Amino acid sequence: MPATTANLGPGFDTLGMALALYNTVELETNHDRLEIDIIGEGSEGLPRDESNVVWQAACEMFRRAGVKPPRAKLRLNNRIPSARGLGSSAAARIGGILAANALMDGRFSIDEMLEAASQLEGHPDNVAAALLGGIVVCATVGGRVVWRKLPVPSGLLAVAAVPSFELSTSLACSVLPSEVRMRDAVANLSRSCLLVLALAEGRLEMLGELMEDRLHQPYREKLIPGLQEVFAEAKRSGALGVALSGAGPTVLALTRDRSEAVGAAMREAFARSGVVCDIIELRPVEDGAGITEI
Ligand code: HSE
Repeated sequence: MPATTANLGPGFDTLGMALALYNTVELETNHDRLEIDIIGEGSEGLPRDESNVVWQAACEMFRRAGVKPPRAKLRLNNRIPSARGLGSSAAARIGGILAANALMDGRFSIDEMLEAASQLEGHPDNVAAALLGGIVVCATVGGRVVWRKLPVPSGLLAVAAVPSFELSTSLACSVLPSEVRMRDAVANLSRSCLLVLALAEGRLEMLGELMEDRLHQPYREKLIPGLQEVFAEAKRSGALGVALSGAGPTVLALTRDRSEAVGAAMREAFARSGVVCDIIELRPVEDGAGITEI
């Protein structure tokens, strides 16, 4: 399952993009009891019992099918940084759902799996991109996820500045207002619509203005020291556009050929606010999560 970035600035809970950094889930049946091995990112802190997110998502599909969960062994190899805004929980849920569906001979459709994943996650943007790949535009309508996929513009690269601290999505959502001003909603609506067209037409020079947001980043800023400076430095060093990745704290800049300069500028800007970060270059990918039978 690929990492994902959500929102792309103004497209709160609406836009997602898949990135070439993968977690894997191996599921083996016919075990005496549930056994979960985890290696990689966040492995020390993750539960290895029934409460594990991958297992919970798998069980949700068994429940929906009216099938008793098997006694299984799960092997999780996590490369996506945990609780950083790069879709680690979406990847975990999609992994569990796909594994369970494969064991049940693919009885659920893509749309049914997406609906389940979105309900578990609480929003569709990361899970849609993790499952479908590419750039996904989605909406929740009457409990269903309605989506369309855009191809990734050629040569587009993402540079992620991943702070060393974690930020839970629930904390990053708790600072959001329950109501917003009409002019802020209009600013995001207009930018989101234009952003989708600009991406579809490859008009990447428009991303700088169109990735601005007024609905979530201004409120989340207080949880991420130096955020505005990182945005400004990314643009000054040649990023096409820059935004918080999902709920943060990762900042994601888009570029074609300036990835080194943009990465260095973001690292230095975060450092001036006392934030240590890793810079990772991530290629957007057309393909979503896949299944291999072993
Ligand atoms: N759209 C969600 C948010 C993504 O911004 O809260 C969370 O990763």
